[in-house]
Amino acid sequence: MELHKIELVADWLKNAHRTVILTGAGMSTESGIPDFRSREGWWKKIDPMTVSTVEALENEYELFHGFYSLRLADLKTCQPHNGHKLLAEWEEKGLINGIITQNVDGFHQQAGSKTVHELHGSLRSIFCSTCGHTADEEAFLNQESCSECQGHLRPDIVLFGEMLPQEVWGKAIRLIEESDLLIVIGSSLQVSPANELPFLTDGKKVIINNEATLLHDQFDMKLEGKAGDVLEAIDKKMKGGELS
Ligand code: APR
Repeated sequence: MELHKIELVADWLKNAHRTVILTGAGMSTESGIPDFRSREGWWKKIDPMTVSTVEALENEYELFHGFYSLRLADLKTCQPHNGHKLLAEWEEKGLINGIITQNVDGFHQQAGSKTVHELHGSLRSIFCSTCGHTADEEAFLNQESCSECQGHLRPDIVLFGEMLPQEVWGKAIRLIEESDLLIVIGSSLQVSPANELPFLTDGKKVIINNEATLLHDQFDMKLEGKAGDVLEAIDKKMKGGELS
């Protein structure tokens, strides 16, 4: 791990006034949740257009339900890792102002983070795609129909082609525009409009990712490595610990 870079980022984090974190699926792989585009990612095994679109929801409900119920069931056996907990600790200490996440696993909140903007919604909230009536996770996992209208239940996540929740998007933009330090963690930055956010800050931009992305050279600092390891190294440096 590039220790001089860790030292620099720890210094930036301690001296910044408004730090924002933007996370992607790479933030949760160490919790056992696959990402989408790396070698082991979901989209290497299944075409997203067959499961993650409104068309799939309406015309291929068995496939749609099979994909999302599997991912929701996974959450019951996976937990936030130490990296999620460190981000919550940094918020508690006033080192970061909030997290904007593309993830739908709820792990940041589960680890204790308070200000979390879920750009792509949450797997943990279920509603009827016909009448909007809310339902619980078990009803969706058991492939029950809506208790009000017998319609198809779905998770409250953004499918390809759907609009992002406008209120959340507005809050994310404001948080980024006010920031003087942005740290992107575990995202290939291939999906818009989330991948436009890093360019709305005038502050310093850091990316922590275990492989280069197409936007890497737009960042002031690139830290290649696993999210959990890099966050722990930064935390240790901030606490005055010597890095090995
Ligand atoms: N530490 C650091 N980086 C990691 C780790 C890890 N432990 N595990 C994976 N990565 C990196 C991968 O190498 C990849 O570059 O994280 C990135 C994850 O990229 P994607 O799989 O494309 O996930 P993400 O950027 O969040 O995708 C955005 O696409 O399919 C949609 O809605 C879905 O929210 C998702 C969006």
